[in-house]
Amino acid sequence: MYQILAYIKFLFNSTNQHGVHSPFIYNFVTKCLYDKKKYPKYDELNNYRKILKDSNIALEITDLGEGSKVLSSNQRRVSDMVKTSSSSKKESKLLFRIAQYFNFNNVLELGTSLGMGTYAFALANTDSKITTIEGCPNTSDYTKSQFIKNITFLKGDFTTVIPTLIEDKFDCIYFDGHHNKKATIEYFETLLPKAHNETIFIFDDIYWSKGMTEAWNHIKSHRSVTVTVDSFHLGFVFFRKEQVKEHFKIRV
Ligand SMILES: C[S@@+](CC[C@H](N)C(=O)[O-])C[C@H]1O[C@@H](n2cnc3c(N)ncnc32)[C@H](O)[C@@H]1O
Repeated sequence: MYQILAYIKFLFNSTNQHGVHSPFIYNFVTKCLYDKKKYPKYDELNNYRKILKDSNIALEITDLGEGSKVLSSNQRRVSDMVKTSSSSKKESKLLFRIAQYFNFNNVLELGTSLGMGTYAFALANTDSKITTIEGCPNTSDYTKSQFIKNITFLKGDFTTVIPTLIEDKFDCIYFDGHHNKKATIEYFETLLPKAHNETIFIFDDIYWSKGMTEAWNHIKSHRSVTVTVDSFHLGFVFFRKEQVKEHFKIRV
């Protein structure tokens, strides 16, 4: 119910590119978020999704996040997980476009699950270094076995794995696991030192619950954040010091 009301409110308050005066954000919206080109790599994303949908494998799940709200049993079929816990078709294409548009060299993902997001980042720039963290060991192992590309799969709770990361900075951090207020704010604050001027933080499910929206508002008002773009499902955070502090709600 919270999500429906939040969406109605979002529809009233959101805009398209008109009224966006910042050239940086105008270009991001028109050339990336609204890019309607049919990239051949979308087929590769769809093929991977189909493999997962057709899989008859079931995994014994260790759930450290909020996934249990959606799927109750500990034994979960990959074919069900891809429908409930993975980035949607639209979202994974969007992640691909964003990674391609900004040409990220170094990406961190919190919450690998079946790797739909990981794959979108990997396809966008084949030379990029991608690190992805997953708390469920069986899910992490399964997803790792599906990938040929050199991706760093780290297993464990975000709280214990994040302090072991050797990278000083990331171009992009995708926060897509443990969707609650306290955890989201904690991961945001812990990872802030890994941001440089051009880094983008992407938060999934900012309207998943009242708490997640509160976490999003906390992030927006943080002194180190300049511009944010809220597309309802995803929230984009920019740290560019040359931008004035401004928050956009954009219908994608
Ligand atoms: C929504 S799924 C990730 C979807 C994936 N990023 C994609 O694009 O398809 C969230 C994942 O985060 C993992 N997770 C949740 N809380 C965690 C935590 N505290 N530590 C490690 N992993 C966690 C869950 O096991 C789950 O697989």
